[in-house]
Amino acid sequence: MTTTRTRFTGRTALVTGAGSGIGRAIALALAAEGAQVAVAGRRREPLDETVRLIEEQGGKALAVTADVTDATEVGALVDAVVDRFGSLDVAVNNAGVFRGGQPLADLPEDDWRAQLDTNVTGVFLALRAQIRRMRQQPSGGAIVNIASTFGAHTRQPGAAAYSATKAAVSVLTRGAALDHIRDGVRINAVSPGAVETPMSLRPGETDADRTERARATLPLGRVSTTDEIAAAVLYLASDDASSVVGTDLVVDSGATA
Ligand SMILES: NC(=O)c1ccc[n+]([C@@H]2O[C@H](COP(=O)([O-])OP(=O)(O)OC[C@H]3O[C@@H](n4cnc5c(N)ncnc54)[C@H](OP(=O)(O)O)[C@@H]3O)[C@@H](O)[C@H]2O)c1
Repeated sequence: MTTTRTRFTGRTALVTGAGSGIGRAIALALAAEGAQVAVAGRRREPLDETVRLIEEQGGKALAVTADVTDATEVGALVDAVVDRFGSLDVAVNNAGVFRGGQPLADLPEDDWRAQLDTNVTGVFLALRAQIRRMRQQPSGGAIVNIASTFGAHTRQPGAAAYSATKAAVSVLTRGAALDHIRDGVRINAVSPGAVETPMSLRPGETDADRTERARATLPLGRVSTTDEIAAAVLYLASDDASSVVGTDLVVDSGATA
């Protein structure tokens, strides 16, 4: 372990979309601060690799395959976490997809539906199952949803449908937070700007192209690292943010400053 922080010792966390990118970084960061972490996604292999990485740093983890668009699978996921670890204290709803790059009129209906299903219905189903569990616990729980600056701030062609889904995540977060804070469940969102994963590459762009674009256009001069997004998520999920409710924390290298 490289950190001495222990904000999540004794707590159980669930991260969706934890087999890659931002989700994996969040899972590793939670484990490094003492949480036992359940990692979820549709494909088994990347989840097993996240578990391996967590165990390698001395942490405890469980991989559960689940599709967040399926209510039964999401219910079974929460049950599996509680069966294994005894509680659900922190949940991070990070699973998401981007399908775009073309003008809205050229977007296939399947791509529209896939984004709505995963990014909006998936977050709703996960929130519902997580809150139903957390509100039974004396200690409640904390949930962080991963939205995007595309939802409320960034204006970029070719991302209308994705942006609409992420605006929905931010609004859903605020509403759910108001509905359930008196149940002891604290809900917030993080809105990343461009992050160092393939999702932020423009059509045809290489990593080097993105580095150059970021240098020229972002106030900070670079995109965010996955660890920087994880740090924001951990803050909101921790007791450091005990009176932060329904907010949407922007982490975007100054893009929307
Ligand atoms: N990268 C950026 O610049 C950026 C910026 C703003 C916001 N975000 C948001 O950050 C989140 C993570 O993005 P990322 O860049 O880390 O992308 P990523 O590497 O593609 O991660 C997305 C993860 O979600 C999982 N997933 C997708 N559909 C799922 C489903 N139906 N059920 C369960 N899991 C599912 C994927 O695993 P499986 O395919 O195995 O299911 C994958 O591990 C997303 O919500 C994204 O919209 C990213």
